[in-house]
Amino acid sequence: KPSGKGKPLTVSFKPIQRTWENDLVLPKGYHYNIIASYGDVINSKGEKFGDSVDLTVYFPIDSLKGGNNSEEGLIWVNHEFPEPANYMKLLGLDPANFKKENLANYPHLLKMEKEAVGGSVIHVKKEKGEWKLVQDDTYNRRVNGTTPIELTGPARGSKAVNGAVKVEGTLGNCSGGRTLWNTVLSCEENTEYGHDYGWPNFNDTHYGWIVEVDPFDPKRPVRKHTALGRFAHENAAMGLTNDGRVVVYMGDDKGDECFYKFISEKKFNPVNREANFDLLEKGTLYVADLSKQKWIALDHESNPTLKAQFADQAEVLTNARAAARAVGGTKLDRPEDVEIHPLDGSVFLSLTNNSGHGNFHGQIIRFVPPDGDHGSDSFTFEVFVAGGQKSGITCPDNLHFDSKGNLWVVEDFSATEDNVYADYKNCGVFLVPTDGKNYGKPQQFASGPKGSECTGPWLTPDERTLFLDIQHPETWNPYPGQSFGRSALVAIQGGKFK
Ligand code: FEO
Ligand code: CA
Ligand code: CA
Ligand code: CA
Repeated sequence: KPSGKGKPLTVSFKPIQRTWENDLVLPKGYHYNIIASYGDVINSKGEKFGDSVDLTVYFPIDSLKGGNNSEEGLIWVNHEFPEPANYMKLLGLDPANFKKENLANYPHLLKMEKEAVGGSVIHVKKEKGEWKLVQDDTYNRRVNGTTPIELTGPARGSKAVNGAVKVEGTLGNCSGGRTLWNTVLSCEENTEYGHDYGWPNFNDTHYGWIVEVDPFDPKRPVRKHTALGRFAHENAAMGLTNDGRVVVYMGDDKGDECFYKFISEKKFNPVNREANFDLLEKGTLYVADLSKQKWIALDHESNPTLKAQFADQAEVLTNARAAARAVGGTKLDRPEDVEIHPLDGSVFLSLTNNSGHGNFHGQIIRFVPPDGDHGSDSFTFEVFVAGGQKSGITCPDNLHFDSKGNLWVVEDFSATEDNVYADYKNCGVFLVPTDGKNYGKPQQFASGPKGSECTGPWLTPDERTLFLDIQHPETWNPYPGQSFGRSALVAIQGGKFK
């Protein structure tokens, strides 16, 4: 059994080759261990780890005291969607006889679906060199499709959300981010599938928001912040303006949709955690106009176009896409993950692809705010990496920076042996330097099991562990003898452990 600290993942490795191998393949000298997979019991209430893992946020166990513990912490992980066909197998039902219109007649299946989505808080610890889930009733818990969630901000209680102040559950939780006060932002993305799942009482305008959860305090209400707008939220990358307000960059993952930022009205308080809990309730939402290189405020009060088309700010936020279009927001090729460069403050955005326009491989764009000020209403931009044969990477999705400014990029595409992605084989994980002689040159670090997407890359503060989610694998399954794939959260480490 490995023990000890291992080596930082920021040191160079020998890149791997594209492969169809049905496992998580890593460079020589690196290994992974599974922390939790769908259905694992996480506490004495019998709550289970959800499905379709995405976004991993690691909080050192001593985060609230400013600590950097890299061997024990809390992890928030998103559970993006249910896999009903798998649950039918587990329930002994025949998927061939099933019609989604009849879901209400299958209460057990409906319950499994609603419990499979949302997110988990789990306590994790490195023991004898391997990461383990700690059975813990203080922290381990689920937020799922039935959790009561408060709405905050201008749309709370408004006509636009049918008067709701509290809504039922969360779904479509794709990526997200960590706030400066150690909470998680979980992004509701493809929420329209709530209809496909046949969920009773599904109300569109109750979903498609950014959800904030405090992993350290189970009693603190889970909240959806309407001030950040409603669309297919992929991700939330937080930073500060030069005058100390909070900025959140956000992508809307749909073909021909826009890139947004939110700026809080109040300033961040670095010494009083409690003072920051209302920061995302009040502020201004902006959409990017790339032709003018400007951020345009989606503000009902000051914008005559919005005033003419929407009754109030609640309507603007609830229909953020239509508002963005009305003011000239630039349509992009599926804006997914956004991250802020830790050294120079530039903003990296994945445009995963846009098959509607024949853009099959996507690109990563780098936005530069003037004077490094995220509060500025202008920016310049350039293409950082173009997907395709030349770079060797395709369909960039989640991004994560290490302390040296290397960008870790995961891919999301579905290759078959004869489609446009055939040469790319299984989805991978790449390191892309943003400086030096290898600037913009992807190096492959991992290849996922068949049919899977590697999501949610996240490094511990010592950068000796990379957490990664294996989402929707075809058959890869940590439970022996099962005929369907099972999503799992893994920890990757490298080096000598003696
Ligand atoms: Fe759920 Fe945009 O990926
Ligand atoms: Ca996904
Ligand atoms: Ca994604
Ligand atoms: Ca994707």
